Amino acid sequence: MNKKTKIYFIGRKQGIGLRRYRLSHLENRRRFEPEGIKDAKTKIKQTRFIQNADVIWVRVRPEHTNDKQRYLIEKRLKNVRGKKSIINDISIFDNYDCKDIAFGIWKEHGILCPDYLTIEQDDDKNNLDQIIRKISKFLRKYKKIFLRTNNETASLGMHTLTTSSTKDEIKNSLVSLIDRCKKHQSERSSTKIMIVEFSQQHRENQYADLYRVHVLFGKIISYYAITSRKDIFHNIDMTLKEIDRFIMLNEQLPNKISMLEPEILKAVALLGCNLGAIEFFIENNKPVFIELNPMWGGHASMNGFGDDYMQSYLSDNRGALEKRIPNIYSFMDYRPYYKKLYELIHQHISLVG
Ligand SMILES: Nc1ncnc2c1ncn2[C@@H]1O[C@H](COP(=O)(O)OP(=O)(O)O)[C@@H](O)[C@H]1O
Ligand SMILES: [Mg+2]
Repeated sequence: MNKKTKIYFIGRKQGIGLRRYRLSHLENRRRFEPEGIKDAKTKIKQTRFIQNADVIWVRVRPEHTNDKQRYLIEKRLKNVRGKKSIINDISIFDNYDCKDIAFGIWKEHGILCPDYLTIEQDDDKNNLDQIIRKISKFLRKYKKIFLRTNNETASLGMHTLTTSSTKDEIKNSLVSLIDRCKKHQSERSSTKIMIVEFSQQHRENQYADLYRVHVLFGKIISYYAITSRKDIFHNIDMTLKEIDRFIMLNEQLPNKISMLEPEILKAVALLGCNLGAIEFFIENNKPVFIELNPMWGGHASMNGFGDDYMQSYLSDNRGALEKRIPNIYSFMDYRPYYKKLYELIHQHISLVG
């Protein structure tokens, strides 16, 4: 039997300062993840000591991580970098945390993502007019856009503008984002405003289908699709109205994934991530990527798919549906899912070190 892999977690809550020996307080712990680690105990176990680790996993919730915490993590990692495997090294944090940087890397390598511009701000009034002109021009081109911060979730700092937005509306969104950025920049210096094309060509009957694929060490480990008619939506927004489309999309997904796999893996690898959930729409049979989330842990990982009614439907009809959409049920079997994830980490580390 292979030697057990020792894993060390480092984040805001463990692995730094006085918390460096702490085994508990796994950052952004997913439901049943700790049990999953325990279930994999014949293959992998946690260590309190970074120097004993075979693999180190940087666990930070990006949007809550400030420059000081990054610095503390970096300080500990720089002594072991190159000697040990590191999952999602803090050195590549900006690649996924800042959407403008992720988009820039993807574009440079021919990977599709929405068009975007970043905004450089200063306090000059003329500058404000200039920015508004820049936004209006972008808006004329794409008809619908987001004005947003580059490093926050959609519930914060994301404004939708359309060709019917007035100049005042554009200005108010801009001014509020400039304020937001100023507040954040002292702690998260990479914060910026960006303008993003609203991707909608792929909409069918007004439905947008958003795909999420989980990748570990260059391999796809799970995936699902969600769907909605809203402009901005997440898994929790799905209702029973969407159930048939949700089932149909997930039933077709295995075939699509094999076609899209090379681009998905390339998009993740380009950002330097070993583990993450990547999100994309599909346009003309090609993925158009919108974000990489290194620490998935949202509604699907905590409760399941859709609102309460949809969740009950999926659970009541498991017998009939499991054969059609096995990806959905295996993702929701959290404990075995995480056991498998940790076993795969072990498998990879024992092969490549
Ligand atoms: N460029 C885009 N075009 C169309 N819809 C988008 C675009 N970017 C984001 N969205 C919508 O907004 C939602 C949230 O955006 P996202 O960047 O994934 O932030 P987060 O998931 O962190 O809240 C997405 O699930 C999608 O519905
Ligand atoms: Mg998202």
